[in-house]
Amino acid sequence: MSPGSASPLEPGRASRTFPLVKAAVCTRYGPPEVVRITDVDKPVAAENELLVKVDATTVNRTDCGYRAAKPFILRFFTGLRRPKPKRRVLGTEFAGEVEAIGSSVTSFEVSDKVFGYVEGPFGAHAEYLTTREDASVATVPANATVEEAAASTEGSHYALANIRAAKISSGQHVLVNGGTGAIGSAAVQLLKSLGAHVTAVCSTEHVALVERLGADRVIDYLAADFTKDDQTYDVVFDAAGKSSFGRCKRLLKPKGIYLSTELGPFPQNPILALITPLFRGKRVLFAIPRHDQEMVNHIKGLIESEAFKPVIDRRYPLNEIVDAYRYAETGQKIGNVVISVADRVDQLL
Ligand SMILES: NC(=O)c1ccc[n+]([C@@H]2O[C@H](COP(=O)([O-])OP(=O)(O)OC[C@H]3O[C@@H](n4cnc5c(N)ncnc54)[C@H](OP(=O)(O)O)[C@@H]3O)[C@@H](O)[C@H]2O)c1
Repeated sequence: MSPGSASPLEPGRASRTFPLVKAAVCTRYGPPEVVRITDVDKPVAAENELLVKVDATTVNRTDCGYRAAKPFILRFFTGLRRPKPKRRVLGTEFAGEVEAIGSSVTSFEVSDKVFGYVEGPFGAHAEYLTTREDASVATVPANATVEEAAASTEGSHYALANIRAAKISSGQHVLVNGGTGAIGSAAVQLLKSLGAHVTAVCSTEHVALVERLGADRVIDYLAADFTKDDQTYDVVFDAAGKSSFGRCKRLLKPKGIYLSTELGPFPQNPILALITPLFRGKRVLFAIPRHDQEMVNHIKGLIESEAFKPVIDRRYPLNEIVDAYRYAETGQKIGNVVISVADRVDQLL
């Protein structure tokens, strides 16, 4: 049972026979204020699961989307009217220590430091979670802090899914709009590790950061409209979801690809991804991100080879998670917002 399946303590209930742990619980969809820190039953690892004591997690745009049920389609996964009991503790990224293992677990041991991605079951916004040993989990790379490990899967797996969908290879010219966000900052680094030539777009304040991430060229969108750039690209990846295929088409080489992390306002991107390939010219690709153990191990390898290091913006303790949500959904965070669950004892007792 994951923390997501545990119900908040019922008021007036006199005694419990099993331990309680802290979790950030959402019993309805809405703004950040729907999230409450409360007691839930401590989860127990099933025979093929790890029980992880969570040290760090993140609040990311995926959490914001599920919490607010935007886009509406997310309700088909988490509950139509309100979050299902098993989906009330959000949190997709985690890093922590294995406290117990199920009887059939062979690839992890108690005391292993692990990190991973749990979109679907969720439950990382809690002191403990359970995850299957064959899910998106791996041991923390020796050269990463627990916070870096926690922040290394959400943005990067969206970036990786898009890069793989477009089959981007060494020497290709790629423009990344929004090179500072969780997805964009990962995309710049992953593309450089592939040997692509990267032009990144960001605001004046973040030009130096994007250069440090490895971008070959930076366009400050406050000084110039990147869609009027005179260079052409094999791929335009709008990691901020702020442009459109129509506006970016002139930037693409004859068989160039437009990628976006957003559906688009109409929402046109998935539809264009079906139609544009029929014309055999410039086209839209809409990547469906996949997460599994191969993905986490791939990211782990990139961290170990120092090809990828997640950008961390702010840190909050678990009991200030509402503030973390408020900040994450300004659309102005730089990389990732970390929740330090290890601070919980001082903060919550
Ligand atoms: N629905 C979902 O489940 C889901 C999940 C993940 C992501 N997404 C979408 O994917 C997009 C990116 O996600 P993310 O987590 O990477 O975002 P993020 O971390 O919130 O991105 C914030 C960054 O975007 C940049 N930015 C803001 N306005 C911009 C503009 N007009 N042009 C270029 N850059 C701009 C800002 O940097 P500067 O100040 O330098 O511009 C900021 O650093 C978002 O639209 C998000 O909603 C959706």
